[in-house]
Formats: sequence, structure tokens, C-alpha cells
Amino acid sequence: MNKQIKSVQPSEPVKGFADRLIAWQACHGRHDLPWQQSREPYGVWLSEIMLQQTQVSSVIPYYMKFMVRFPDLASLAAASQDEVLACWSGLGYYSRARNLHRAAQEITEKYQGIFPDEYEDILALPGIGRSTAAAISAFSFGARRAILDGNVKRVLTRYFAVEGYPGNKAVETRLWQQAEALLPDDNIEIYTQSLMDLGATVCTRSRPRCESCPVSEACQAQQQDRQAELPHSRPRKALPEKGVAMLILVRDGEIFVEKRPPTGIWGGMWSFPEMTQDGDLGQVVPARFGIELGSVEALPVMQHVFTHFRLNIAPLLLNVARDLPRACQSHGIWLAIEDALDSAIPAPVRKLLHVLLKRKT
Ligand code: ADE
Repeated sequence: MNKQIKSVQPSEPVKGFADRLIAWQACHGRHDLPWQQSREPYGVWLSEIMLQQTQVSSVIPYYMKFMVRFPDLASLAAASQDEVLACWSGLGYYSRARNLHRAAQEITEKYQGIFPDEYEDILALPGIGRSTAAAISAFSFGARRAILDGNVKRVLTRYFAVEGYPGNKAVETRLWQQAEALLPDDNIEIYTQSLMDLGATVCTRSRPRCESCPVSEACQAQQQDRQAELPHSRPRKALPEKGVAMLILVRDGEIFVEKRPPTGIWGGMWSFPEMTQDGDLGQVVPARFGIELGSVEALPVMQHVFTHFRLNIAPLLLNVARDLPRACQSHGIWLAIEDALDSAIPAPVRKLLHVLLKRKT
């Protein structure tokens, strides 16, 4: 059964949206795209697959060539995958071509070569998601189904001032509800095309042409002057974390700092010596500095954020018991805390020095 979306009583911003878009489409929408010349599902399907992640101007020559080489579903299903991929070559995202080919074979076997007209059956085909299934259903069969591709997400996010990244599941669910609430009772094909055209030609990502938009008066982003901010961008990925132990050697009220190598983080600055967090202090300190360790105190871990990673710093306060006969500290210098604070030191080292200063008083 074709369970189409039931129509409900529209609320204020919803009322008139579809009517305005449908009226706008007549004069300002696109009518001459090659796949708009027929409702025949094979061509509609091919165009919708090619138009996933690809602009109209890039798709047109490929669509024309493909329709000559594989004019119908039977010719596509009978071709080898190599032949299909060769015809797709240059358009990118080749899984689309492989899925298209598989779907053609599935339709041949399961539906005797007749493209299915039920939304659920279309959705079940390889390479067809909810929005593509809705577009094919609307354009070929006049089904009252909502689309929500990238352009439409941008239109709705602005129109309703939807907060959050539209790729987020909860935000996307909200957008689907809004897309369904906006559906007109009639003229679904014109409405679907108008929404696509508005997103591609007026409600563009940068510098939208709000003065030419048929629904700008009720657009929340326009009212709040937030067109540039909406839709929100993808949140930044969690940064990888690294850890290091910082060795704060203290002897007679002075601390030991080393000059870091000229390249890499904090290049050329003065900083505390470091070791891995699981390093063996009892071995490392005498071997590296010629020092016999006295008391050891672990200070609270600090986090420092770089552009590409977070650094968890475990500071270890090490009181020097005595220098060993083979003391080797020439790669660094002993400084009074106040003098170290006057030097070129990284922010976390500065923070640690302030902690030490406080403890002294
Ligand atoms: N983008 C996705 N489908 C489209 C269509 N049928 N026409 C124009 N742009 C589109």
C-alpha cells in the first residue's frame, strides 16, 4: 500500500509556503532540464542518482550521454559493470553507478523490468535513500512525499531558524517533520521542483538572494538576520589526545628548564624536561640529569589544546636530594622562578610556575 503523508491543518509559517513556491516556480523555476521532459521513471531515477552530490551543470552532459548509451532499464541491466562505469567515468562517487546497475538488475528480476511505483519498493532499491525515493515518487507518480536533500535542508533550516547541525540525527528528524508539514495537497511535482530550484538558485549557501525569495517575509533567518549563520556548520571533530609527564626539578628554590628544539611544538622556547607518562622516574632522572631524587609529588593534570591535538600534561614536582658525581645538566639551566617567568615559556609552564610561586608564599 502506498502510505502517503496525511495532510494536517497548517500553522502560520507553514500556511502559504507551498502556494508561494508553486506560483514562483512558474516564472522563476527551471523547466528545461533534460530529465524534466518526461515522467518516465527510468530517466527520473537516473537524474536523481546523478544529482546526488553533483551540480546540475556537471550532470547534464553525463545524463545525455548515459541516456544514449543505455536508453532504458533493460539495456542498463544487460550491460556489464565495466560498461556502466566507463559511461560514468569522470562524474565521481562510483558507488552510485554500481548501485544503479545492481538496482536495474533487481528490477528486472523482481519486477519484470517495470520500475516499481510504490515508495517503499523504490526506497528498498540499492543506492536510493528517503529523499531520492520521495523525489522519484513525486516526479514520476505524483506521490505526496517530502524531499530533504542538502539544498532543502538549508532552505528549511533558515525558514524555521532551526538550531544545530542538520547532519545531526535529532536535527534531521525535526527537518523531516517540517518538510512533511509543508507539503501541499496538490501540485506535488511543481512544489518538489520549486523547493529544489529555490535552494539551488536563491537560498544559496553564501550570499542568498533574499530579495528574490517568495517566502522571505515569513523566513525566520531573514527576520533575525541570521542567513549567514544558518544552517550551523558541522561541529569540529574531537581532537586526538596525547599525554606527557613534565619534570619540575627543584633545587635550592630554583627550577630546571631546557630550550626546546627549534621546530615542533613550542619550538625554541624554554620548558620543563619531559618523559612519557609511564616512564620510570627512578631510572630516568639519575640517568638524564645525574641527580639523586628526593621527594616526588604529582601535581594535578593540565590540558593544553593545540589545533590538531590535546596535550594532557602530568606535572611531577621532583625535589633534588643531591647532584651525583656525574651530574649532566648542561643542556638546560637552573633559574629562580621569577626569572623563568621572564623568559620565553609556553602557557602551561607559566601556569605551573605560578602554582610554585604560590606554594612558596
Ligand atoms: N537536484 C536533485 N534533483 C534535482 C532535479 N530533479 N532538478 C534539479 N536539481 C535537482
